[in-house]
Amino acid sequence: MDAKITLLPGDGIGPEITEQARLVLAEVASKFGHVFQFSEKLVGGCAIDETGTALPDESLDACRASDGVILGAVGGPKWDDPNAKVRPEQGLLALRKGLGLYANLRPVTLHPALASASPLKEERLAGVDIMVVRELTGGIYFGSPRHRAEKDGVVRAIDTMEYSDYEVRRMVQLACKIAKGRQKRVTSVDKANVLESSRLWRQVADEVAAEHTDITLDHQLVDSAAMRLITQASSFDVIVTGNMFGDILSDEASVLTGSLGLLPSASLGDGKLGMYEPIHGSAPDIAGKGIANPMGTILSAAMLLRHSLDLETEAKAIETAVFDAVTEGARSTDLGGDLSTKAVGEAVCAKLR
Ligand code: IPM
Ligand code: MG
Repeated sequence: MDAKITLLPGDGIGPEITEQARLVLAEVASKFGHVFQFSEKLVGGCAIDETGTALPDESLDACRASDGVILGAVGGPKWDDPNAKVRPEQGLLALRKGLGLYANLRPVTLHPALASASPLKEERLAGVDIMVVRELTGGIYFGSPRHRAEKDGVVRAIDTMEYSDYEVRRMVQLACKIAKGRQKRVTSVDKANVLESSRLWRQVADEVAAEHTDITLDHQLVDSAAMRLITQASSFDVIVTGNMFGDILSDEASVLTGSLGLLPSASLGDGKLGMYEPIHGSAPDIAGKGIANPMGTILSAAMLLRHSLDLETEAKAIETAVFDAVTEGARSTDLGGDLSTKAVGEAVCAKLR
């Protein structure tokens, strides 16, 4: 297969980890006889520095013209001025919106050898296997009005949480579809005791679930869902939720796995094009040191093969290689090891070979 892959390394540790994902994909290409063409574009803080905007048109166009996109991370203290007109994160949000990628899949699975890397007691971790399905182009991240104003000496800032029925429907449909290949349980997470948008979310979720008699849907308020993630994580199968709740809960869920550095994600829309990125940020404190964990990005590359290119065997090969490398002790510092970013990538490539 011939495929065009756009790399958006971004900021901080982004370039280091995407480079390892690229090398792993190149290894897959040579092993399975594919041709992957890579091109690298700017997004985030580095794009602001070079072009004044967080997502240059050229980058968005390149993504649209490709089969899949791999993103490292965006942001950092250099661009954190609260009064700045443009922020790196706007580049990421504009990409998600511009590419119509409204659904974000964040699988949370546990490697048995890493149970001790989690701060939670091992018995709480047995059987954890969760798919977080996070809405990605709506909710409070995109609602309007959104602004800041000063009146009579009082400064007010406004964000708006809004959802339309169709935005909820397509998410819950997707969650039910995914659940069919798993344990057939969907937990819809909201804050329906307070928010009108959540009451709509809950109502639409019920309507969709009624069309899927083989799926069990339950609803849970986000605060108690946060607690259940720590106390009874293995009781979850698929979690479907809005943009901000999904952002928060997926970082929380990553603690179960031992490191935020391990978790991949896929951002999908109606077509085949998807964007794949680790769920962690740009980690400015360790940027440039060559010690970041590339596994979240490497596993994101596996998701690209699965969802955008329909290369399930190749996707599994990467996942198995990562699993085996970890089993044999390939650990970066976040997992208590001492391997460099490069050495971890090399360990995965060696397993693939
Ligand atoms: C994530 C990140 C982003 C988000 C930021 C960088 C805008 O936290 O992908 O989880 O909030 O969606
Ligand atoms: Mg996040």
